[in-house]
Amino acid sequence: MRMVDLIEKKRDGEELTTEEIGFFIEQYTNGNIPDYQVSALLMAIYFQDMTDRERADLTLAMVESGDQIDLSEIEGIKVDKHSTGGVGDTTTLVLGPLVAACGVPVAKMSGRGLGHTGGTIDKLEAIEGFHVELTTEQFTKQVNELKLAVIGQSGNLTPADKKLYALRDVTGTVNSIPLIASSIMSKKIAAGADAIVLDVKTGEGAFMKSVEDARSLARAMVQIGNNVGRQTMAIISDMSQPLGFAIGNSLEVKEAIDTLRGKGPADLTELCLVLGSQMVVVGGKAKDLDEARAMLREVIENGSAIEILKGFIEGQGGNPAVVDSPELLPQAQFTFEVPAKESGYVSCIEADEVGTAAMLLGAGRATKDSVIDLAVGIVLHKKVGDAVKEGESLATIHSNSENIENVLAILHKYIEFSKEPTTAPNLIEEIITQ
Ligand code: URA
Ligand code: CA
Repeated sequence: MRMVDLIEKKRDGEELTTEEIGFFIEQYTNGNIPDYQVSALLMAIYFQDMTDRERADLTLAMVESGDQIDLSEIEGIKVDKHSTGGVGDTTTLVLGPLVAACGVPVAKMSGRGLGHTGGTIDKLEAIEGFHVELTTEQFTKQVNELKLAVIGQSGNLTPADKKLYALRDVTGTVNSIPLIASSIMSKKIAAGADAIVLDVKTGEGAFMKSVEDARSLARAMVQIGNNVGRQTMAIISDMSQPLGFAIGNSLEVKEAIDTLRGKGPADLTELCLVLGSQMVVVGGKAKDLDEARAMLREVIENGSAIEILKGFIEGQGGNPAVVDSPELLPQAQFTFEVPAKESGYVSCIEADEVGTAAMLLGAGRATKDSVIDLAVGIVLHKKVGDAVKEGESLATIHSNSENIENVLAILHKYIEFSKEPTTAPNLIEEIITQ
């Protein structure tokens, strides 16, 4: 088989066979095909697209390029949740204990944040002593006993995706539905999930800015998952403004704890109930979404979700006392209010800009090697649709530096006002099951 023939075939809009896709992924991973040929093929895929069959084959070939996590020692249907990335997105910290309390095993592999989006592992590491370096045996044992464990990404998971993503990044081929969908799904499948619930974000803070693009990506991923035998569904949710109020690692842990006690922000709570209901049904613990939602509300009210959170923190070396005393989490030295310059209604809070402001405070990574400050971040007091009086605080900045002029400027610029009443964006745009 010659790579140049595959490039010409795709360039001319023809379909690649399973063998051809397997060849290119295997040989590229092994270093036997040069970057320039793969770049040409990626650009051809960018323009010519891939059929459903090609997408499923590409995903499976990437899964097979490295380690696959075997979760068969864990009893029950393992349901994984994946978000395409947002600002202040604390759902994983809430959903883990919530769904586990309903009896669905959550065996989660998570990553760190980059740029204006946060990562679950960074947030968990705000808890003193918490670590994600578990052996497979420890991981399996904790999920069987407690229904919840989080492990760091294995080094050799989907090496083909790592190489391809780096190449796409410098060849203008990141933004391609078949390439994004196969990239995300290959990692979820290699991580061992039986079923996958996807939270595809849309809006300014998201990878997919328009609902149409988010829908195409969601459909592509659902199709791939179901074609390779993993039950998959997706919801499309709003990321035009940050989720909840808190953005920043410690601040989001506290927000997750509040939400698990039934005292969280309305949008974060609702998103967790929608995603959680899907997970509980797919996990076989409820017959329909209504029953699942009632179960989720019950484990919040009777405190069992909070108990799971404590056990989970303790099981992974952390201090469970933070759950009852969140002031034990790292605290920033200074806080500053952001007073409204005029009265009116909040019309827009640009999520990516607020995420960048939190990153400038030190809550996120500008580059892969940046060291983050777990204490700092932003807590919003207003969301889109809220009425505001001049001088009222829009947000509190938690900082370890007194020099916050740039952060203040971003918040004043991107928390926008209208004289006329505004309405909050739709939190859930759509649910896609096939
Ligand atoms: N996230 C991924 O994991 N892969 C992509 O291609 C894009 C976003
Ligand atoms: Ca939040």
